[in-house]
Amino acid sequence: MRVRKKKHGAERLAACENYFFPACENISEVFENGNPVHVEIGCGKGTFVRDMAKKYPEINFIAVEKITDVMVCCAEKIKSEELSNVRVLCADAKTLAESIPANSVDRIYLNFSDPWPKAGHKKRRLTHKIFLDVYKQILKADGSIALKTDNDSLFEFSLEEFAANGFTLDEVSYDLHSSDFAKENVMTEYEANFSKQGIPIKRCVAKL
Ligand SMILES: C[S@@+](CC[C@H](N)C(=O)[O-])C[C@H]1O[C@@H](n2cnc3c(N)ncnc32)[C@H](O)[C@@H]1O
Repeated sequence: MRVRKKKHGAERLAACENYFFPACENISEVFENGNPVHVEIGCGKGTFVRDMAKKYPEINFIAVEKITDVMVCCAEKIKSEELSNVRVLCADAKTLAESIPANSVDRIYLNFSDPWPKAGHKKRRLTHKIFLDVYKQILKADGSIALKTDNDSLFEFSLEEFAANGFTLDEVSYDLHSSDFAKENVMTEYEANFSKQGIPIKRCVAKL
């Protein structure tokens, strides 16, 4: 994602501090309602997490993004709609087990993660074993990962990596928008763009 430096980005983000996900020992210190917790990793500008949080007020969401200037847009969206079931976390996915308590997450969303097509870069893919081992720490015993992508190679890599690392594959679709899951689908920004170009969206759910 090409990112233009935001004017006063740090100050704008700081103004959203009530929506930051804080360091905690137990998720109930942050969300006091005992509702399920879903985490979107690489939330970009936050359209998906905003729309999901409005559609499912009985679910708590944590939006994770590593680039501060991108996170500003997401945090401001959540603040402007006063969505009390969302917190934002500016962090690299690799470090999530340091911020999110173990066994606390019901579902992780990976939406249109960077494909890193070169073989030499495969350790950067968000479905590489290195990342799956982190997700396993924060997921509950029956937790799951829902992945969507436009990219055939990343999809095939991810299906293999999930299967090789103890996940069971479910709801595998090579054309989400023509599938039974289309009705409940909430589009991301990238998804809307790829879809406009006629690129089929691939999706799967990987369950522990
Ligand atoms: C291609 S964009 C997709 C944005 C959004 N999910 C969508 O579908 O519209 C991928 C996003 O993931 C973020 N990202 C990439 N690697 C990450 C990592 N290791 N940890 C957290 N975020 C990451 C990028 O900064 C970027 O904002």
